[in-house]
Order: sequence, then C-alpha cells, then structure tokens
Amino acid sequence: MSISQRTVRGLSLAMMAAGLMTATLAQAGEVEVLHWWTSGGEAKAAAELKATMQAKGHTWKDFAVAGGGGDSAMTVLKSRVVSGNAPAAAQIKGPSIQEWAKEGVLANMDDVAKANKWDDLLPKAIADGLKYQGHYVAAPVNVHRVNWLWVNPEAFKKAGAKVPTTWDEFFVAAEALKKANIVPIAHGGQNWQDFTTFEAVALGVGGTEFYKKALVQLDAGSLKSATMDKVLTTFRKVKGYTDKNAPGRDWNLATAMVIKGEAGMQIMGDWAKGEFLAAGKVPGKDFTCVAAPGTSKAYTYNVDSFALFKLKDPANQKAQQDLAAAIMSPEFQEVFNLNKGSIPVRLNMDLKKFDDCAKTSAADFVSTSKSGSLVPSIAHGMAVPSAAEGAIKDVVSQFWNDDKITSAQAQDRLVAAAKTK
Ligand code: GAL
Repeated sequence: MSISQRTVRGLSLAMMAAGLMTATLAQAGEVEVLHWWTSGGEAKAAAELKATMQAKGHTWKDFAVAGGGGDSAMTVLKSRVVSGNAPAAAQIKGPSIQEWAKEGVLANMDDVAKANKWDDLLPKAIADGLKYQGHYVAAPVNVHRVNWLWVNPEAFKKAGAKVPTTWDEFFVAAEALKKANIVPIAHGGQNWQDFTTFEAVALGVGGTEFYKKALVQLDAGSLKSATMDKVLTTFRKVKGYTDKNAPGRDWNLATAMVIKGEAGMQIMGDWAKGEFLAAGKVPGKDFTCVAAPGTSKAYTYNVDSFALFKLKDPANQKAQQDLAAAIMSPEFQEVFNLNKGSIPVRLNMDLKKFDDCAKTSAADFVSTSKSGSLVPSIAHGMAVPSAAEGAIKDVVSQFWNDDKITSAQAQDRLVAAAKTK
C-alpha cells in the first residue's frame, strides 16, 4: 500500500469513526421518567432502569414522587400533563392506561413491540391491558403478587405461634404475638394499604368468585351481602391487632417493623420482599412468605408498566422507544425483578437466580391463570376505573378508621361508591 493510499484509508477510517460518533450523539436523548419507587428495594430496582438507559448513551432525568401506591405521583402527573409539560415516560398501569390513551397524549410503541415480539412473550390478558384500540401504549416491567403475608419466624418462635393459613388461625397467632408483646400485624394506615388488607380479607373470606363479583364487577348484590358483612367484620378485627402508630405510616416502615422483629406479620405485595432483601435478609430464614390467609389457591396480580407521552424532539423520541425496548429485554427483566421482589412478566424466563418466594409466585401465576383464580388487585389499580376505585377505597378506609360506621352502612356506601364515574 502506498503512502497516499494509506493516508486516504486512514482518513476515511477517521471520517467513518467521526460519522459514527455523530450518529450516536444525534441519537442520544433525554428521558424524564416519573415513578414512585423511593423505598430501599424500590430505589435499587429503579437504579437498574436508569443504568440501562445510561448504557445506551441516554440521559436519565429522575422524576420520583415519593408515596407508596403512587397516589401522589398520579396527582403530580396530571398537573404536569395539563400544563403541557408531560414527562417522557410515567409509571401508569391497569385501566388508567386506557384513560390516558383516550386523552390522546400517549405515544405508540407498536414498532418496538413488533420488533421484539411482545405478543409472543406476554400472557395475552396482560398484553391486552397494555394496548389501546389494538396498539401498544405501555411496556410492562413485572408481575407483583399482592396477596402475601410476610412473617418474622423469630417473633413467631418467641410467641409460640404457628404461621396461619386461614383467618381463624390468623387471629390465634395474632393473640399469641400480642401476649408476647410483639405487634401482631405491621400496618400503615394509608388508603391503599388499608385496601391491600381489605382485598386480601375479601379473597380469603369470600373466595375468588365473590372477589370477582364484588370488587371487579362491582355487583351491587355482592357488595351488599352476608359475605361482605363477614369480610368487613373480619377486616375490622384485623385492625385490633395493629399498633397505635399505624395511622399514616409508610408501608416500608411497616415492613421494617417485621424485619426488626417488632412486628410478627405484614400483609403486603412482594415489593416488601425488596425491602427485606435490601436489608440483607434471607428468605426462608430471616423472613418467610406465605399466601395471605385463605388465599393460597388464588393470586392477586399487580403489573407495573410505563407509558410514553408524545414528545416532539426526535432524539428524545428515540430515547423513549429505547426505554420501551429495554424494559422488555430479558437482561433487564431479570436484574430489575431480582431487586423489586416481583417476577418477570416476560414468559419463559430462566428463574434460577430467583428465590423461593419468586418461584412460588411464578408457579402460582401459571396455575391460577388456568384455574380462573388469577385476579387483579383493586388496591393497585388493576381492575376498576380510577374514579370508582378511589371512591370504594375511601369507604373502606373510613370504615377502618371509624368504629361507629356499621358494616351495613359501609355496604350501602360501597354500593353507592361503585357507581362513581
Ligand atoms: C404499587 C406498585 C409497586 C410498589 C408499591 C409500593 O402500586 O405497583 O411497584 O412499589 O406500589 O410503592
């Protein structure tokens, strides 16, 4: 090769490299992501999403709004969208996906979904909920099981109590823990936490068919019924085993009580496992996960997903689509869910790195979807339009907080609240 040939080759290589760099730079965008993952385990999981986007060269703008269950985040999101300043992506799930899509503000993800075969990789019922008029508008990150009971085995040992599988056994265990000066049930008195307990009681006491009719279909005859009376009475009895500082307490502080052995149990979705793990606790040894009393044959699901808002800047649009693709990649589904306490929503994933709680969750997800006892969580926005959901949650929390409200009154209020549009 002559010197001039070499120079030309060297130059063109340099030009190609420069061209590649400009192309990469031109594609690097910013994603502002609204979420409410601020507790120990949640933040570790959110950090994985951030790292994934940064590895693709994009800038991550964190838009975290603290508050378990996401009520505050949703309020902030509404005001941002109304003022014409929507974030690139937001944690939106369940029927709210449809509500936002109807407003015409969400971006389409069909290209990413098609290229990555989402239709083949997601359970159909879940994929349908992520689509609006047949088009993907949300990308799912996980499946959380909500109907869990978290147990501190050391506390149970001290109290000589047996881990409950029915509500009757639950109260026997709660009595024993109380006698041993251990708070039987760690609770945070916030509307969504009250309802997380309520729907576990409804499922355990009333069974799957009752749960579906009363809380998913909002059937008046089931909302006001002898079974609902039993559910409300049991629910109120649970309150008697919470401590006086429960009102307003954040869920992760309630989990911390179980971690420390100050409390024996907590009814909470498996984001609680993220807290145990973040605190260095070992499943099956330092804590155990069992289905909430009476619900081992059923599964209340909560799927976290992200929707994208329509943006104008092409680089930011590219970053958004990269976010959607990353979310469903097997690498991300694994590392995110190992931290979050949930299981991958992507089917056929290898779960060898996951613990037994996750393995049980995955097996039960499949078996309950076959038996018809896989049900959406109302507490976590999976089933009911947001207006009715808010109204029935309020009724349940008022009943929890005010012993003067009778079960009959609460049932009438539930029937009325279910009609909220
Ligand atoms: C849920 C959400 C979970 C979780 C929890 C507590 O609604 O789906 O991801 O972290 O709130 O913040």
